[in-house]
Amino acid sequence: MTNTLKNQIAIITGAATGIGLACAHRLAKDGAKIALWDIDAEKAQSAAAQIPVAEAFQVDVADEASVMAARDATLNAFAKVDILVNSAGIAGSVAPVDEMNADDWRRVLDINLTGTFLTNKAVLPTMKTQDYGRIVNIASVAGKEGNPNAAHYAASKAGVIGFTKAIGKEIATQNIAVNCITPAAANTEILNQMTPEFVAYMKSKIPKDRFVEVDEIANMVAWMASPECSFTTGAVFDISGGRATY
Ligand SMILES: NC(=O)c1ccc[n+]([C@@H]2O[C@H](COP(=O)([O-])OP(=O)(O)OC[C@H]3O[C@@H](n4cnc5c(N)ncnc54)[C@H](O)[C@@H]3O)[C@@H](O)[C@H]2O)c1
Repeated sequence: MTNTLKNQIAIITGAATGIGLACAHRLAKDGAKIALWDIDAEKAQSAAAQIPVAEAFQVDVADEASVMAARDATLNAFAKVDILVNSAGIAGSVAPVDEMNADDWRRVLDINLTGTFLTNKAVLPTMKTQDYGRIVNIASVAGKEGNPNAAHYAASKAGVIGFTKAIGKEIATQNIAVNCITPAAANTEILNQMTPEFVAYMKSKIPKDRFVEVDEIANMVAWMASPECSFTTGAVFDISGGRATY
């Protein structure tokens, strides 16, 4: 264990599994205490059982009342929040736009984009009062490039990139950094929401010719969530194995 995040409190959404869980392990190793936020209470409890400094909180990030209740419960348990890693997300079903169900479109936007807005909104008052905060929003290379048959997902992640740029500038004079990260495909449970053909397409677009490991993403997030990330805000960090061209 290193101590770069000693005495710090991190909220990680979507932390029951996948990228969020890898970030929870990594930030705990760096010395932070972790609030694991997830809609799946049972899985979040199992995740918390693996990490001695973690506590699980059930939340639906798309629901403002639920997010504010989880924020209040977290502050009751830990008294402050220094870090937010926003990893909760869904893929939605694979479909061309002319066959896409509007409810599916809305659900993807609600969780991936509005959920990001709501969780960022929830932690900002505390971060502003303490004049310290590090926020990492997990976007996707799909938000830069788009993947055919997943326009809802691409639009939601492009939204996360634009939101991050705006909020980073909005609070740049405070010691609060808000950045996002755009991973290529990682082999997590989210891939089960997609067709095998779509997964193969995403992998074929990665010049490194493999999935990114969740620990590789967590390593990048660890720096973005640390005090060392003191001048970079409103930025987009690439981890796409060479796929992204900007
Ligand atoms: N895996 C990839 O290929 C990949 C690539 C780029 C970006 N991402 C993004 O990374 C993030 C994490 O993805 P992952 O691969 O770990 O997926 P995952 O499915 O393994 O984990 C997502 C977690 O979010 C939780 N969640 C879903 N809806 C929620 C809600 N409404 N409220 C609270 N929690 C909710 C799920 O229960 C789950 O634990 C997502 O935002 C995803 O879009 C994933």
